[in-house]
Amino acid sequence: MPPPASPVKSATLRIAVIGAGIIGLATALELRARGAEVVVYDSGTDLGAGATIRSAGMLGAAFEWAGEEDQRALAALARHAGMIWPDFAARVERLAGGGMEFSSEGALVVARTAGEVEWAEALAAACQARGLPVQRLTAAEMQRLEPALADDLHGGMLLPEDRHVDASLALQRLGAALSRQGVGIRLGRRIDRVTGGASFRLPDGDRFSRIVLATGAGALPEFVGPRGANLPHGLPASVPVKGQMLALAPASRAPRHVIHTRDVYIAPKARWTLVGATAERGRQDVEIDRKAIEDLRRRGAAVAPAIGTAAELTVWAGIRPGTPDDAPMIGQTAIPGVFAALGHFRNGVLLAPATAELVAEQAIDGKVSPLAAAFDPLRFDKNGD
Ligand code: GLY
Repeated sequence: MPPPASPVKSATLRIAVIGAGIIGLATALELRARGAEVVVYDSGTDLGAGATIRSAGMLGAAFEWAGEEDQRALAALARHAGMIWPDFAARVERLAGGGMEFSSEGALVVARTAGEVEWAEALAAACQARGLPVQRLTAAEMQRLEPALADDLHGGMLLPEDRHVDASLALQRLGAALSRQGVGIRLGRRIDRVTGGASFRLPDGDRFSRIVLATGAGALPEFVGPRGANLPHGLPASVPVKGQMLALAPASRAPRHVIHTRDVYIAPKARWTLVGATAERGRQDVEIDRKAIEDLRRRGAAVAPAIGTAAELTVWAGIRPGTPDDAPMIGQTAIPGVFAALGHFRNGVLLAPATAELVAEQAIDGKVSPLAAAFDPLRFDKNGD
């Protein structure tokens, strides 16, 4: 492992964040809040043009990890992220002067069949074992809470701390907040090469004392030392996990809550209702498979009948930035001064404010929080030490 970044008076730090998805933007905001001068770069011409814009914006701190016994550190990070999201949203909205549809309605987990009751019960028990609030519901109670649900379900639960947000609005608000805080956002700039050692030079000639890599599923730049030698960063390639999703016109009987079943989720926004998503590991194309889309709609309609008839507005596919162990990479790479904020797989929107804190702490104060220890980016690097 390289030595920790030495604490530097933050006013002297210039930091380039490569990647303008929600991870890069949230990290830029946190770095700026701690006094650094920050510029965000992205090869796309829009903010969050990779995974963020294609995400359902679910903040599933409980649902996503309740049954994942081998992901305890990630569950703890997710819980922390879920707890700080309300303040993060409020701060960004205040700085930007506009909302992002942050919703605290809670998420419903629904057992569609008698066979799924056991699955839902195991999730509820796992949440409780972790101290996460769960409200078990009969089918009738669920329907009272969410009248859009079908009337032949087998009960389920409300996860009151699982919230959601419109990810596109979050991007716009973050962009506005950053501009107002004096953070430069340079879009349409591919950063394929970074040169330097003590300070780093980007292709536009600008120099920085720290680099944060937040490229999602996109390619990492090549790092070249002062004498022209390649500098290994020690990071594995991103593991792509394709997700296809359907956006429906918000029907009058559309759900208000995020709804999870075992094999589909429904995420309502003001402008549309999202139904997702496939999880196709190793696929990095964004082709649409109509059969997969119709399967999503059919599964959604089985829990909320309005999903069966609502007009299709659009469909899309995105690439989740996975890692070999499905946990993110947060912290210093093998190159001192270069930090990873990568590999957030299916939970980048949830984890963004937490990753932002951890990266800023390391990049500015040289501190590695216990919450970050499990996400050392060099854990896959056989040659690292
Ligand atoms: N977070 C939901 C998904 O990745 O589909």
